[in-house]
Amino acid sequence: MALDLTAEHKILLALATKAQKNAHAPYSNFYVGAAILDENAQHHASCNVENAAYPLGQCAEAGAISAMIASGSKHIKHILIASPNDNFCPPCGGCRQKIAEFADAQTEVHMATKKGELKTVKFTELLPLAFGFDKE
Ligand code: THU
Repeated sequence: MALDLTAEHKILLALATKAQKNAHAPYSNFYVGAAILDENAQHHASCNVENAAYPLGQCAEAGAISAMIASGSKHIKHILIASPNDNFCPPCGGCRQKIAEFADAQTEVHMATKKGELKTVKFTELLPLAFGFDKE
């Protein structure tokens, strides 16, 4: 998809990319960043944080969601995931369910490659019939 970034995309991409650089990913070496725009026009970003006990690792999206909740916001308007390579990095199944908790039918998920290509989908395209998702 052609690079066509709005001002908001650029902010989210910059924040996700900045967090991505701080990822703790010594086991997979797969550095991911995520950034959210919430209902209060606040931004939140995080990166993946792995652990020597592999299943304890946390995805970048989960960290960004935690930061949003800790700030007092409750709704994801946009979430952008920055991939470490030239493939898009769609949220894993677990993260889709975590996003569902704070998304609605308008929530947009943006995926950015390392070279800055962007792909946007509605959250409901990523997780149709999500459990516990009854928002318009
Ligand atoms: N990862 C994320 O942070 N977000 C995703 O959407 C997919 C995967 C992380 C988890 C793990 O630290 C590494 O990428 C490899 O799977």
